[in-house]
Order: sequence, then structure tokens, then C-alpha cells
Amino acid sequence: MLKTAKMPNGFKNEYDKVLPRIRQGKAQDLYVFEPAFDGPQAGTSKYDGKDVIMLTSNNYLGLSTHPEIIKAIKKAVDKYGTGTCGARLHNGTTVLHKQLEEKIAEYFRTESAMIVSAGYLANVSALSTLCNDSDSVIITDQLNHMSIVDGIAMSNAKVKIFSHNNMEKLEYILQKSQEFQRKLIVVDGVYSMDGDIACLDEIVELAEKYDAAVMVDEAHSIGFFGETGRGTSEHFKLEDKVAIKMATFSKSLAGVGGCIASDKDTIDYLKHQAHQYIFNASLPPAVVAGVLKSFEIMEKETWRREKLWDNTIRFRKGLKELGFNTMNSISPIIPIYIGDDNTNMHMTKELLNRGVYIATAIFPSVPMNKSRLRTTITASLSSEEIDRALDIMGEVGRRFGVI
Ligand SMILES: Cc1ncc(COP(=O)(O)O)c(C=O)c1O
Repeated sequence: MLKTAKMPNGFKNEYDKVLPRIRQGKAQDLYVFEPAFDGPQAGTSKYDGKDVIMLTSNNYLGLSTHPEIIKAIKKAVDKYGTGTCGARLHNGTTVLHKQLEEKIAEYFRTESAMIVSAGYLANVSALSTLCNDSDSVIITDQLNHMSIVDGIAMSNAKVKIFSHNNMEKLEYILQKSQEFQRKLIVVDGVYSMDGDIACLDEIVELAEKYDAAVMVDEAHSIGFFGETGRGTSEHFKLEDKVAIKMATFSKSLAGVGGCIASDKDTIDYLKHQAHQYIFNASLPPAVVAGVLKSFEIMEKETWRREKLWDNTIRFRKGLKELGFNTMNSISPIIPIYIGDDNTNMHMTKELLNRGVYIATAIFPSVPMNKSRLRTTITASLSSEEIDRALDIMGEVGRRFGVI
């Protein structure tokens, strides 16, 4: 028997602004969120007893099923047990946590690094802690990820937003921000809904001119952007000009957690001031062991990032030949612009029925009526899987009048 207490009407009234649309979607069999997969993230995954080609997974390098990583995780569980049952500054640090921080600093070629329990928390911790008073200004691209938006909301800094990649606007804001003691420009390296990248070369130039620090979210670039895969900072050969690099372990590294890499003082300051580090239980040792092994494999098996880029080029070319609008994507995130939410959800449903999974991106992930099918390409996909998916997408696109 259920023993659910009822929420007071004040809450219900608020729910009524959101839930009718969701209930309607479910009633029309158009609800396309939280499909429950029954197996690992791979080129083809299992859903509802069927094989589906996975075209939305951040498992960019295909590491989520790597036998050596799985072995490292199992070994760590045997040695350390399940969780740390505490926060980092007290009982929540193991030898593995320290090793991973050293590895990240070495990887990003910074003096130091800090790990937290989610990529989301990494952004929130840096932004809400480093710029936390009225003498600070955070200057942010309009399309930055929600974890950046939320981190800024938690800070007490002045916030100034520039339209996406608009360098004239950025310079104008910097000119008008001279009175602030601390100026921080924050951008996504790769934009998660559009697949384009930050104009980091111009941003860094402006930052130097106006004495601002630059922070880059490398969530969708770590492992495959730049000559050795170290992200967009390396891609632009500006590793020594980006003061704060943020990354997540939940994508290329196939784990969970996040990090900030920076100079020693910034990391020491964060470790003793950031609430997300001090008041949050640390990552389970097994997760840390898996991420450590992922770094090792990522650096050793360089063919994975080559395969990822080959797959990306093959898929994007196929989409363009079919007539789909892939926006300005130049990364493995390839959005297919649809516009109308309803058409988007119908297409997602139809594609899933026909064995292709693509996440739907509608408001609030993207602006109202700018919905898109958001594909992400991985090294796990074979050429055959990509071509089969393109055939099915072509048929579905024609049926809905999108191409
Ligand atoms: C650009 C960007 N930054 C940060 C995050 C947060 O990372 P995580 O999901 O690992 O917490 C994401 C995840 O969606 C992201 O796309």
C-alpha cells in the first residue's frame, strides 16, 4: 500500500504549468524521454528487446565497454569497497583520488587539478567560488551549458552575456567592465546543442588586452580535439593562455565526475572554499580507478579518436547529401535542425521504432521552436551502422517533409 503524503496546493498549482504537456505527450504515445536501454552504450544498443543504432551517446571514444577499464573498476571495488562515505577533506580521499588529480594536471599540463563528483559540479564550483562578490564580473557566451549558467547564478558576481561567439559584443562588454577587480570570460569549448566551437583565439586575445582570465569547458572536446586530443585549448594551441580548464569524466572517459585544472593557488583556493568540494561526498574509488584507466587507454589507443573523426565526417557528409540542415557543427555533435517541437518528437519516435535512437532537443535545452534531433557520433559505430542509420533517417526525413 502506498503511503505517499499529498503536496499542498501551492505546489500543485505550479506543477500544473508543466505537467499537462507531458501527460498529453504520454497519452499520444509521443513521450520520447528516458528510453530505458538494457545493455551497454555501444554502436548498437538494446531497447525494448530490439537492437537500436545509438546515435546519441557521449561515449565518444567507445571506452564504456573496454575490458581493461572494467577490470580496473572491479579490482578497485575489491580493494576499497563501494563508496568513500565522506567528503574529500575528511575521510573521502583515497590514493586513487590523489593519483587521478595528478594525472589530470599532467594531461592538461597545468600545475594542479581538483576532482569533484560531477562535471556539472566542476563548473558550479569554479564559477560560484572564484567570482563571488561585487568586485567580480563573469562574462559568458549566451549558449553556454546550464551548469555554467547555474554556477553563475550561485555566485555574487555581476553577470554579462554576449551573443554566441560575437566578438564585437565581447569587446564592448570588456571595455565597460574595467572597474571590476576580477574579470572571468567563460565559454564552452564545443557547444553541446549546436556542435560548433568557441572562437578561442579571438577570446584569448581580448582577454589579454583587457586583463581577464579565460575558463573553457572541455566537456565535449577532451580526448579528441587538438593534436593529441587535449581539447579545444590544444586545438587553438592556447593551452598556456587558458587559465581554467574544466572537463567531465562522463563523456570520452566513460565514467562520471568532473575536474578543474589550473595553477596551484587556484586549485588550493577552490579545495578550501568551494562548497561542491567541501560539502559533497567524493567519487567512489571504483569510479576513480575506471577514469584513471580511461586516461591511460585514451592516450595509448590513439586510433579511437581517428575513428571518431572518420565516423563524424562520414555521417555529416551523408546527412548533407540527404538534404538535412546540420547547422554550423564541426564536431561529433551534429544537430539536425527541425524547428517545430511536434515534428521533432514524431520523428524521434518513428526513428526509434525503426531502430535508430536520436535524442530530441526541445525547449529549454534549445530556444523555443528551434528544436533539433541531436546526434552525437562515437568511435563505437561501424561504417555499416552509420550507413544503415542514414538510410532510415532519409526515409523518415522525407516522410515528415523535413528533406
Ligand atoms: C558542456 C557541458 N558541460 C558540463 C556538463 C556536465 O557534465 P556531467 O553531465 O558530467 O555532470 C555537460 C553535460 O551534459 C556538458 O555538456
